[in-house]
Amino acid sequence: MAQKVRTAVFPVAGRGTRFLPATKAMPKEMLPVVDKPLVQYAVEEALEAGVNRLVFVTGSSKRAIEDHFDRDPELERALEQSGKNDLLDLVRAILPAGVSCVYIRQGEPLGLGHAVLCARPAVGDEPFYVHLPDDLIRCTEQGCLAQLGAYHAEHGGSVLAVQEVPRSRTRDYGIVALAEGGTAISRIVEKPLPEEAPSNLAVVGRYLLTPEIFDLLEHIGQGAGGEIQLTDGIAQLLERQPVHALAFRGRRYDCGSKLGYIQATLDYAMADEALAEPLKVHLRGLL
Ligand code: UTP
Repeated sequence: MAQKVRTAVFPVAGRGTRFLPATKAMPKEMLPVVDKPLVQYAVEEALEAGVNRLVFVTGSSKRAIEDHFDRDPELERALEQSGKNDLLDLVRAILPAGVSCVYIRQGEPLGLGHAVLCARPAVGDEPFYVHLPDDLIRCTEQGCLAQLGAYHAEHGGSVLAVQEVPRSRTRDYGIVALAEGGTAISRIVEKPLPEEAPSNLAVVGRYLLTPEIFDLLEHIGQGAGGEIQLTDGIAQLLERQPVHALAFRGRRYDCGSKLGYIQATLDYAMADEALAEPLKVHLRGLL
């Protein structure tokens, strides 16, 4: 039987250069979509999938994330004294009891594969999720990580969330080829040219990985862009054990890009009862 997944790893040590100057002193994972930072959406998705250990791989300027998930007695006292009990409940509910947070520093942003490897001491010898908070995925029924978990419970092995992208965009993603008629990945390539891509199925920022990935990441060198790529570790993993692709149900926003971030903000605001109507009026005026 497949092992229950208890740990989620959030690699949040990237430089976030596409959002400079906003990300000079603040991590991009703290950018809010309407009223919640990206990293809080990420944690909520992981909690829904049943994890109780959150591992943040952080870099420089990431203190704000630790502060966000920590208690703030001074703020709580001030809200209490001013009778703002609904806001007090909101702040206290950010992290439920019984969930532990581990923060690990990635000394230098050497790549996503290296960031995942940094989490090894906190993960141990069990399957774990990797969640990239700048990929925001809106699902109506089950969150994306929970979908990966359900697939793993039934089929075992590692599971990657995938979606179709236009051929012209394969250079932005890890691209997979599937074994005929199934979900098993037969090949994975990081950022291939459109004419060399094995398909237009792209891996997005949600993974369920078995711990065997760690030994492989120890030994791979620099890949595309001079970075230690998670994709290269997965390419070796799938020669040893099944790695599945799951076409998840949900809408993904690339919040690491300005356009994706603005689209997410608009869609989440339109889904908010209090904001939808005045926003519609504003947008009509604008168009
Ligand atoms: P990105 O490719 O989005 O890179 O990383 P970035 O540096 O964060 O952003 P840009 O391209 O400069 O704007 C994908 C994910 O991997 C993490 C990032 O934090 C992001 O969640 N990452 C990347 C690390 O944690 N460490 C690294 O060394 C590289």
